[in-house]
Amino acid sequence: MRLFIAINFSKEVRNTLLSAISELRSQSILGSFTLPENLHLTLAFIGESSDVQAIRSVIDRLETEPFSLTIGGTGHFGDLYWVGIESSPKLKALAENLQSDLRAKGFEIEDRAFKPHITIARKLVSASPISISVPATSMTVTRISLMKSERVNRRLTYTEVYGRTL
Ligand code: 2AM
Repeated sequence: MRLFIAINFSKEVRNTLLSAISELRSQSILGSFTLPENLHLTLAFIGESSDVQAIRSVIDRLETEPFSLTIGGTGHFGDLYWVGIESSPKLKALAENLQSDLRAKGFEIEDRAFKPHITIARKLVSASPISISVPATSMTVTRISLMKSERVNRRLTYTEVYGRTL
């Protein structure tokens, strides 16, 4: 299974993201826009693994508590467009601890700086510069999820395999 650990969003944050996607869509010629049910923030990308038990134990042993997360602003990595996350030491510590604990258990987690972002479109093509505004919207993170990524009838589908309430 292709696995990653993520934060899923409150209704309010999702609505802000859906508005951003429709604004982006109206300014573009082509693009693959993230399906509403697939919006998430990745904390750690694991890749192919079947060892759900080992990952669960890493998630269960994390010392953490609910924290506030604020989304807002946009940017892009080439033709991949994202919505940003306000700087959060608690989020950074959570992602870094998860990644180092997974590495200690033998998982090959890419060793690159954590750049929290929410992908809203890939392969975007526009005729003129994109300009969208994404108002700051906050939520309290109370759960982290181990997600499975697969193609179901060619549609990218994410399913929660395990969730921990913080
Ligand atoms: P992305 O949106 O920037 O591609 C599921 O693929 C999630 O894991 C996505 O949020 C994706 O981020 C993230 N991810 C991080 N590293 C990845 C990698 N090496 N390959 C695929 N997805 C990765």
